[in-house]
Amino acid sequence: MTLEKFLGKFAIVLGDFLRENDNNPECLYDGLIEEMAEQIDRDVYFSCGETRFVLCHPKWDKVIKMNRFDNVSRDYNALELDHYERAVELGIDRIFLPIECVLTVCGYDIYVQTKYTTSVCDQRYKDSRKIAEQVNELYSQRICNKAYNRMYDAGRIDRVWHARAYQIYGKQFMKTLEKFTRELHIGDLHRHNIGYLGKQPIILDYAGYFD
Ligand SMILES: Nc1ncnc2c1ncn2[C@@H]1O[C@H](COP(=O)(O)OP(=O)(O)OP(=O)(O)O)[C@@H](O)[C@H]1O
Ligand SMILES: [Mg+2]
Repeated sequence: MTLEKFLGKFAIVLGDFLRENDNNPECLYDGLIEEMAEQIDRDVYFSCGETRFVLCHPKWDKVIKMNRFDNVSRDYNALELDHYERAVELGIDRIFLPIECVLTVCGYDIYVQTKYTTSVCDQRYKDSRKIAEQVNELYSQRICNKAYNRMYDAGRIDRVWHARAYQIYGKQFMKTLEKFTRELHIGDLHRHNIGYLGKQPIILDYAGYFD
C-alpha cells in the first residue's frame, strides 16, 4: 500500500477514535497507534521515542511522525519543522531530513519525513581503537576537538559520524551548523537521532528535548 493510501485510511480510524475521546490527543498511546496501523497494513512497523510515534513501511521512502502528547506537552514536530525552515534559510538543510505537515485530523497534525538508510545505532559495533583510527583518518585531532566541542550537547554525538559530516559538508557549513545547534539548543543527538541517507550523514531528530 502506498503512503498516500495508508494515510487516507489511517485518518478515518484516527478521526473516529479522537472524536470518541473529545478530540484529546493525550489519549493516543503506542499500543493503540500500532494496532490501528497494523489493521490497515500488516507490513507497517512502529517505532517510538520520548516525543514521537513513528510509522514506517519497507516500501515507503518516508516515515510518518506523530506527536506523543501522552508523554510530553510540546509539539516537537512543529518545532522540528521550524528548525528545518531556519536551516533552509541558512543553507545547511542538507544535513537535516526534510519534514512536512501533510494532514490534520480533528486538530491533530500528522507529519512525514524522508526515511534514513541507517541510523548510527543500526551500525555494527566498532571497538574504540577502530573508532579513533577512523576519526584520525578523516580529520586531525585539533580540528576534531574544536569543531566537535562547538556543537551543542557535543558529548552525545558519535565521533565517526561527526568526522564524516565534517569531511562531506566542509568547515564553513559545520561552523554554521555548530552555531545553529547552540542557538536553538538542538541537543540530544544520540546514536538513534543521527545516521546516513546513502553515505550522507544526516540528523533525523533535530527538535531538541525540552520537557
Ligand atoms: N526519518 C526517519 N527515518 C527512519 N526512522 C525514523 C525516522 N524518524 C524517526 N525514526 C524512528 O523513530 C524513532 C523515534 O523518532 P524520533 O527520534 O524522531 O522521535 P523522538 O521521540 O523525538 O526520539 P527521542 O526519544 O530521541 O526524543 C527513531 O529513533 C527512529 O527509530
Ligand atoms: Mg529520537
